[in-house]
Amino acid sequence: MFDLLVRNVTLPDGRTGLDVACRHDRIVEIGSGVIGEARQIIDGRGYLLSPPFIDSHFHMDATLSLGIPRLNLSGTLLEGIKLWGELKPLLTHEAVVARALRYCDLAVTQGMGAIRTHVDVCDDRLLCVEALLEVKKKIAPYLDLQIVAFPQDGFYRSKTARQNLIRALDMGVDVVGGIPHFERTMADGAASLKELCEIAADRGLLVDIHCDETDDPLSRHVEALAYETRRLGLEGRVVGSHLTSMHSMDNYYVSKLIPLLAEAGLHATPNPLINITLQGRHDTYPKRRGMTRVPELRAAGINVSFGHDCVMDPWYPLGQGCMLEVASMGIHAAPMTSREAMRWAFDAVTVNPAKAMQLDGYGLDKGCRADFVLLQAKDPIEAIRLRANRLKVVRAGKVIAETPERLSLLHLDGRPVQVNGADYAPP
Ligand code: FE2
Repeated sequence: MFDLLVRNVTLPDGRTGLDVACRHDRIVEIGSGVIGEARQIIDGRGYLLSPPFIDSHFHMDATLSLGIPRLNLSGTLLEGIKLWGELKPLLTHEAVVARALRYCDLAVTQGMGAIRTHVDVCDDRLLCVEALLEVKKKIAPYLDLQIVAFPQDGFYRSKTARQNLIRALDMGVDVVGGIPHFERTMADGAASLKELCEIAADRGLLVDIHCDETDDPLSRHVEALAYETRRLGLEGRVVGSHLTSMHSMDNYYVSKLIPLLAEAGLHATPNPLINITLQGRHDTYPKRRGMTRVPELRAAGINVSFGHDCVMDPWYPLGQGCMLEVASMGIHAAPMTSREAMRWAFDAVTVNPAKAMQLDGYGLDKGCRADFVLLQAKDPIEAIRLRANRLKVVRAGKVIAETPERLSLLHLDGRPVQVNGADYAPP
């Protein structure tokens, strides 16, 4: 007897007409015509069944705080950081927990299975660290949270950031973060990477650095990050987030840089929604897009994920926890519209971030945890195009969220009366 049997689904790899059988919290069988009784049966009707969406770059301590205490008028990263500095003294434990839980609810309805969030450690109270550790425990049954100790005001530039980052790691924060381009000098930035990577190596932790989030073509900290990664044997454990300066770098330099990143086994996490709105703000025309060189990183074999980064906070006034929206913006900002590249963009919000975060039991294979999303789309590209409805969200073999099938009724003479976006897919 199975606990859950999902009949007749299409997988992201294109296989169709498959059944997925779950017992307890695991996938125990996957194939066509699975035989057996089940306590609950879902008719997949040929729709796409995907492993959950994964957001490998987010700021949960700031989310849903838009307008408190004021709005970001210039729209720049630096005003966002300043505004967050004004908000920090006003934060309470209860408010941070409440906003984070609200966001997690929203994310779960969107099929999110795991989030890596940065938490600012440049507040001596470590109020946000305590709050997000509490949130992590509370949401563990339905959403995995990885927390990165993030010295927002600079590991060296902020007097107490170093000791606070160590305290946060001692409290149970999972990953070491940094922001070398915000240190006072390039030399300080490079030195911060050396020390942060050493801390991670000593403690056996992963690393995720806000790296070169600037339009400055000479901001080249990712080179130092790759160097430290290799020096300390951290290959496969380090993420370079944003890497926007790479958009503006000299092409010859990039032709040397990208192979270095590949050798170091660096993962890259651009954040398309945020990069395209925060970068290029000092440009007149033409205005740079600001997103890093995704096709070129991919071509070098580097694991690239798209992160959401922000939702309604000092840096970004929009967003809804929808990783399909993130993938869509990634496609536009790159730009990359071949069928192959658009199909890949779906991996950039599912399997690729799962790999960067080293998630256990992720995927749609026998033995994986029974976590998946049934989408109202026939394939990954259509899912991105339609921001497909999340019909069922399953976690550990149980349906934890569902949304009715979307169907619009037209009242025009001589036209179809029912419109389901999926009906208009190309062959
Ligand atoms: Fe970020």
